[in-house]
Amino acid sequence: MKESTLQKLLDSESVVVLTGAGISAASGVPTFRGADGLWKNYRPEELANYQAFIRNPELVWGWYSWRRDLIKKVNPNGAHVALVYFERILNNFFIVTQNVDNLHQRSGSKNVIELHGNIMHSKCIDCENIYFDEKTYNKELPHCKHCNSLIRPAVVWFGESLPLDALKESQKLAANCQVFLSVGTSAVVEPAASLPFIARERGAYVIEINKDETPLTPYADEFIGESVEEYLPELVHHLKTLNLK
Ligand code: OAD
Repeated sequence: MKESTLQKLLDSESVVVLTGAGISAASGVPTFRGADGLWKNYRPEELANYQAFIRNPELVWGWYSWRRDLIKKVNPNGAHVALVYFERILNNFFIVTQNVDNLHQRSGSKNVIELHGNIMHSKCIDCENIYFDEKTYNKELPHCKHCNSLIRPAVVWFGESLPLDALKESQKLAANCQVFLSVGTSAVVEPAASLPFIARERGAYVIEINKDETPLTPYADEFIGESVEEYLPELVHHLKTLNLK
């Protein structure tokens, strides 16, 4: 990254990072669109939707139980930790994440907006009572203690709306930031994919960090084609050096 961009980050009144599955890949959480995104030959799109759950709740609950077990065993990586440092030194720094794995919070980031929910939470499909406890999601196929309907993971599925407060807040932050970073996301799933464009239209400097190019790449002011777990810690090192000057 150019020294002028590093300085821009340090001088910005507000910085927003949009993260996707790529930031957790080095922790061992499979991405959605990579070759490792399959589970028992199902694509995520086939399981992460309400109709699939109603058709075969055991199958969908089983997939989420597998992912929860996996996520509980992994740890945040250097990229998550680097963003904790960003929060400490940059002005009004916010993470907007599409990830449901809780790894930003576990690494110590505070300003985190979850656009797609949190895999460790569950909710009733009818009365929408939220369950935060492991006792619920560790059961094979739990039922609501209030209305006895099925309990599902409290994540956003294909075809569903995002939590309105989280979405509105993210759009507002994108519209008002001076630097916007898109980190480890394929930048194809709406409405998250529009956030860098909202930022860009309002004059923000848009930086993309992804090991591969995405539909956002031609529109980014800077594209860094590297692994986030290697690049973000390096960036912290450069920011520290410049911040001390
Ligand atoms: P994807 O699996 O679509 O994309 C992951 C992106 O991370 C790809 O562009 C990879 O090139 C990149 N990547 C992978 N490993 C990387 C690394 N080590 N360093 C840098 N880049 C790396 O995941 P998302 O963009 O998060 O939604 O997917 C968005 C949404 O689609 C998810 O939140 C989920 C999914 O369906 C719902 O479940 C609603």
